[in-house]
Amino acid sequence: MEIKKAIIPIAGLATRFLPLSRVVPKELWPIVDAPIIQYIISEAKQSGIKEIVFVLKPDNKRVLDYLKPCPKIEKILKEKKKEDILTEVKNLQELCKNISFSYVLQKNPLGDGHAILQAAKLVGDEPVACMFGDDIIDSKIPAVSQLAKVFKTCQKPVIALDRLPKEKIPHYGIVGVEKIANRFFKIKKIIEKPSLEQAPSDLAVIGRYILTPEVFYYLKKAKPTKKGEIILAEVFNNQMLRDGKVVYGYEIEGKWLECGDKLRWLKSNLYLSLKHPKYGPELKNYLKETKII
Ligand code: G1P
Repeated sequence: MEIKKAIIPIAGLATRFLPLSRVVPKELWPIVDAPIIQYIISEAKQSGIKEIVFVLKPDNKRVLDYLKPCPKIEKILKEKKKEDILTEVKNLQELCKNISFSYVLQKNPLGDGHAILQAAKLVGDEPVACMFGDDIIDSKIPAVSQLAKVFKTCQKPVIALDRLPKEKIPHYGIVGVEKIANRFFKIKKIIEKPSLEQAPSDLAVIGRYILTPEVFYYLKKAKPTKKGEIILAEVFNNQMLRDGKVVYGYEIEGKWLECGDKLRWLKSNLYLSLKHPKYGPELKNYLKETKII
């Protein structure tokens, strides 16, 4: 079965981005000249996704405004002959073409698993991609495509993985694995944000997954943690793997750009700005001129 739908959970509190995230939701923070969400939608589109379900907070639907057509602005740009800007505006409209967007609400921040579960009805009984709003993957083949290809043969949940240096390990979900083929692993355990001693490997979970109806079944019956949350990694680890269910991991080909806190967001911005065909060369000159490094 082809993967045609994607869930994008963006209902978190974005505390690491305060105070600005009070007025500019994290998914709309720019990377170079486009918001983080645009990179994620672009990856989805290039991966053949036709339907995107956002999981939103009740008081933040601004992403929907961003994606709406804006004929008035287009008209003004045409009249003023601002062709360059008009092209950029139209590119966004083009990106949204042939994708249907819908949303569900997560009323309280009760974990990523709980957020994903809110989208269950709209997803129905089929496998779905899940794309976390903190992660951009700069790659030749879009990350969701890479996962979907693996899913085509294994028909089980697939988690995107990347190798991390030691110091980063305590900030992510880390997996214990059995290697099956090049870049392809059977997941044995997942520990969310382990200490270095606890970490079963250097392979971290990137926020990209292929989820099957069975994952939703487990999310539905999961008991919330003491904090009242349902955490996807814990449901995989404590429920599915324990029941002998098979979950695969695939080490993504590409550069994982994290945007989970201000420093990581700045680094990702720097990386993609310096790589950008329009702005990169001039920015590199600027760095030389100013002798800032
Ligand atoms: C989440 C996941 C974690 C994963 C990370 C990737 O963490 O829980 O397993 O490694 O995304 O960005 P969070 O960003 O919520 O801290």
